[in-house]
Amino acid sequence: MCGIVGYIGKREAFPILLSGLKRLLYRGYDSYGFALINNGKEIVCFKKPGKLDNWESRLLKMKFEGKIGIAHSRWSTHGEPSELNAHPHWDCQKNIYLVHNGIIENYQTLKSILEKEGHKIISETDTEIIVHLIEKFYKGNLERAVMEALKLLEGAYGLAVVHKNQNRIIAARKGSPLIIGIGKGEMFVASDAAAILKHTKKVVYLKDGEVANITANKFRVRNLDGKKVEKEVEEIKWTLGQIEKKGFKHFMLKEIFEQPESLENALRGRLKQSKIKLSLDIDINSIKRIIVVSCGTSWHSALITKHLIEGFTRIPVEVDYASEFRYRRPVVKKGDLVVGISQSGETADTLGAMREAKARGAKTLGIINVVGSTISREVDSGIFLHAGPEIGVASTKAFTSQLMTLSLLALYIQQERGNKVNREILRELKNIPSKVEKILENTRAIKKIAKKFKDSKGFLYLGRGVNFPIALEGALKLKEISYIHAEGYPAGEMKHGPIALIDKNMPVLFLATKSCTYDKIMSNIQEIKARKGKVIAVVNRNDKRIRKIADYIIEVPKTEEYLSPILNTISLQLLAYHIADLRGIDPDYPRHLAKSVTCE
Ligand code: G6P
Repeated sequence: MCGIVGYIGKREAFPILLSGLKRLLYRGYDSYGFALINNGKEIVCFKKPGKLDNWESRLLKMKFEGKIGIAHSRWSTHGEPSELNAHPHWDCQKNIYLVHNGIIENYQTLKSILEKEGHKIISETDTEIIVHLIEKFYKGNLERAVMEALKLLEGAYGLAVVHKNQNRIIAARKGSPLIIGIGKGEMFVASDAAAILKHTKKVVYLKDGEVANITANKFRVRNLDGKKVEKEVEEIKWTLGQIEKKGFKHFMLKEIFEQPESLENALRGRLKQSKIKLSLDIDINSIKRIIVVSCGTSWHSALITKHLIEGFTRIPVEVDYASEFRYRRPVVKKGDLVVGISQSGETADTLGAMREAKARGAKTLGIINVVGSTISREVDSGIFLHAGPEIGVASTKAFTSQLMTLSLLALYIQQERGNKVNREILRELKNIPSKVEKILENTRAIKKIAKKFKDSKGFLYLGRGVNFPIALEGALKLKEISYIHAEGYPAGEMKHGPIALIDKNMPVLFLATKSCTYDKIMSNIQEIKARKGKVIAVVNRNDKRIRKIADYIIEVPKTEEYLSPILNTISLQLLAYHIADLRGIDPDYPRHLAKSVTCE
């Protein structure tokens, strides 16, 4: 969370930083700020609370000059979104400026030491103490001063620092991603590739504990002990076109409509003559138990993974929130496979959980979208989603690609353990992208329902079995982008509590496609109708029984029950999107949220 971009070279830095920051808004948009070194003489700094978009036209008229600069888009941790708390932060002499992602856990202790030494700390942030520490250690060598300061920090950081009299940017990371972009006679630093993709595809990924000294023509990387580290230059595969809206009103809508393609990409090259090809560096036969850890939408994929793997292979699967797993002294041992699911590959809790699992002797497998991300680099083995960049804060295409990839994984384990592979499911996997396309061809019913219920005070989402996690996901999507309270529940549990909420104003969405619990769901629908609740049902085409009793119907093509979550979730994404849009909320940047959560 929080976005960083920096530039050093021959060009004016400001327009480059501005367009870079716009690409990073999905990392946080509480405030933004820039610091530019103006001809080696002075530093110009500008920062404001609020979203960059609201200020862009005014900013473009202001002439900020300088060929070295750093910029930041903030997701607040310590201190409200205000000008004072916005980054960059500076030292007492206003010589050194710094932008930072992450959280410094011992900042209170350091703050009191610094204040006793006479440093004036003016913001409520944890970040500001870093720049004062650098000031304390600065004796003409910025790199050395940064290293000395970093040695005192506990917590996480991705940061970039400039000094008024130095033609360089010092960048460092621990727990928060940072890359160096390499151009011709110019260099970039960024928290995400999206910020610099317009200028270069050549990047170097910093590792935890590394500090980069970057000038216009070269960079060198050292660890905190001052030892030089050789770095490999890698190439980003994403294209600029993939991070544009391409005529869609929002990234979220574009990404929903990209799903037929992203699902094809998840399958590509992995199904050959009824054989599943995954190159995993893991001895499948030695797995005794699987634990799946993740956060947010990815956690809903984890819940479905349990159904898939246990259903196909009979290997016991446990699912945990990554943030819970790490701190409860989990029982993990040799023979366990710990699977981490993460779109970004950077979520701090998931990363921490995977490290914990590895330390306890388990094998680790990452199901990741972003190539080059920290989790993808640290796991024993991994499968990439190939969904392309996902910009909308609410995950859509990455979620369905996770489900597709995890279905492949479950079948692959079945195959590698010499069991009979579930042929119907294998065959049906190939039909999923075109069935998603069919759903997207006609979204009239969903728009109508969105209009009808856009002002509802609450929503209930109910499902059973493999579609219970889809009820959770549908509710999460709605609350995160429309701010309507929504709850997902197992349909069978409704009678033990949530049924008390039902009245004529309560919309209840049922996932009611064909399944082994179809008749039970029918009864649950009747129970809602008997209490005058409004029933919206996601059903298969030509379902006459539910059509008769439900108030609103969303039709989806028939598929195998295990794969039905992929189709069913599409309608729920669209419903949440249209409700948010009708309520005048920008679903790409919902309040208080960020796409990639790199703090705990
Ligand atoms: C944030 C995002 C969610 C996402 C979650 C996990 O909360 O807003 O959309 O599901 O992080 O992210 P990951 O990148 O680990 O899948």
